[in-house]
Amino acid sequence: MRPMLRYVRDSTNDMPLVGAEIGVYKGENAKEILDSMNIIKLYAIDPWVEYYDGNLLKKKVSKTRIEDAEGEALRRLSPYRNVHIIKKYSYDAVNDLPLLDFLYIDGAHDFGNVWRDIWCFSEKAEIIGGHDYNRKNIGVVLAVNIYRVLNIFKSELHTEGDDWWFVPRSW
Ligand SMILES: C[S@@+](CC[C@H](N)C(=O)[O-])C[C@H]1O[C@@H](n2cnc3c(N)ncnc32)[C@H](O)[C@@H]1O
Repeated sequence: MRPMLRYVRDSTNDMPLVGAEIGVYKGENAKEILDSMNIIKLYAIDPWVEYYDGNLLKKKVSKTRIEDAEGEALRRLSPYRNVHIIKKYSYDAVNDLPLLDFLYIDGAHDFGNVWRDIWCFSEKAEIIGGHDYNRKNIGVVLAVNIYRVLNIFKSELHTEGDDWWFVPRSW
């Protein structure tokens, strides 16, 4: 289980939660969330169209690969009644979502996408965090670090493994 999600589960004493994941791909992490947390509803957001991953290799994820991933995600998540799949870009899905207990950001890893996701959703989720805070994903590190400085009085940055997340200081 990803460190941020374990933190959310443990610090809320396994309370029922409403959450979202940006970037679902094959649905592996979404399934892990549904299996290991007490989830009322998980919004799984992904447009499943070809894209550039945005890490240092600027890897393109092809149309065939992403379509296969979508099929796999739909199969993997179909047994769960508490998942709501939103086939859109994250920024187009903001108004489809209620207030969230947590948001896990794992879409494209370039600075622009991560920065936009953090800002678009900062008022929408109690805890915001995500994946790939590491040397291969400078865009993620930059976006998270700038947000941290701008919100130093409001929230505290936690990191563990490749995960990052902001905990409100009011917690
Ligand atoms: C690294 S994969 C996600 C892996 C998944 N979170 C897991 O751990 O099982 C990235 C996914 O983000 C999606 N993506 C890229 N840009 C996005 C955006 N703006 N909004 C939502 N999803 C996006 C891609 O289509 C791709 O499926």
